[in-house]
Amino acid sequence: MIRVGLIGAGFIGRNHFNQYQELTDRAKIVALCDAVEARRTGDWSGIGGNIGDAQGSRRDLGDIRPVADWREIVGDPGIDMVDICVPTGMHPEMTVAALNAGKHVLCEKPMALTAEACAPVLAAAEKAATKCMIAQCIRFWPEYVFLKQVFDDKRFGALKALHLRRQAATPTYTLNNWALDPALSGGAILDLHVHDTDFALFLLGKPKSVCAQMYKQLNGSVDRVSALWHYNPDLIVHIEGCWDWPAAFGFNMGFSAIFEKAAVLFDISSGKPLTVLRSDGGTETPAMLPKDGYFREIEYFLDCIAKNQTPKISTPRESRDAVAMATAEQRSAELGQPVEIQ
Ligand SMILES: NC(=O)c1ccc[n+]([C@@H]2O[C@H](COP(=O)([O-])OP(=O)(O)OC[C@H]3O[C@@H](n4cnc5c(N)ncnc54)[C@H](O)[C@@H]3O)[C@@H](O)[C@H]2O)c1
Repeated sequence: MIRVGLIGAGFIGRNHFNQYQELTDRAKIVALCDAVEARRTGDWSGIGGNIGDAQGSRRDLGDIRPVADWREIVGDPGIDMVDICVPTGMHPEMTVAALNAGKHVLCEKPMALTAEACAPVLAAAEKAATKCMIAQCIRFWPEYVFLKQVFDDKRFGALKALHLRRQAATPTYTLNNWALDPALSGGAILDLHVHDTDFALFLLGKPKSVCAQMYKQLNGSVDRVSALWHYNPDLIVHIEGCWDWPAAFGFNMGFSAIFEKAAVLFDISSGKPLTVLRSDGGTETPAMLPKDGYFREIEYFLDCIAKNQTPKISTPRESRDAVAMATAEQRSAELGQPVEIQ
């Protein structure tokens, strides 16, 4: 049984908490840390987010120990794994401290706010005898897993065009609105769009160059980015991330992938299943893997710990690269010209 210390009982911490309740054969949360007393003791009313269970509620935490100071979690010999679900700016310090204390670490995305700030995390992860994974849930999300499968097995021929999109209303639900402070969240480009820079790297590897446009409006954070990733003249890759929509828009993540013999279409906000439109006229809605990417990433990480295997689906180096790609896009937008990728 893997003994977990969960740090951060906000929107995504609550989500992770719920996933562990379905993985009780493998893991048990023994301590829950949050800076806010009500949250660490199970009063989750008022917690909101952009996807999933939008309403918080009161939970009976049973024998789970409430903890005020995250260092107590990291130093606790009765904890094997630390799950970090706090605002992004705190990820590096907590991840490095937990790894140095000999814990396995699952940390929410993005790894850090800049590629430079990722460096100590990557170094600690690569030195550690324990496992470390950044929770890039889209690599585990069934529709995106399907896209990767059909890209890899070429059943629809070569990919000709890809549009990855992550579109949202302005987030107003994080504690004290930390997401709207670019110094804490990095803005939409790092908080939201980084899911798609990570997935594009997973699918296609690094491009030769990127060319992006963006604009900033809220507190100087990047609220919209639109990027073209150049691989070769036969492939068009467009990645869009924004949180500048009016509240009524809600949230969407999705993609259109045009292959030689079919198009694959998914938009979570449509409520429709992923659809394959075949060039010969047929339409299919293939069966997807069960559960969502949040469950699947945690299940996978627990399995890696149990089997003593290094997580391969999402590595710390790749998570660093996802941040670096977002930074490269921002540089391209600021320069008004394409930026080469090393
Ligand atoms: N994978 C996803 O789809 C996804 C979705 C949402 C958020 N996230 C990521 O998860 C992280 C948290 O976002 P959120 O939406 O849950 O934010 P949130 O504001 O809802 O929750 C953050 C929690 O962290 C707590 N906290 C802050 N500082 C702390 C400290 N020093 N010690 C202990 N607790 C502390 C806060 O009290 C709060 O309860 C961010 O990095 C965000 O990018 C990922």
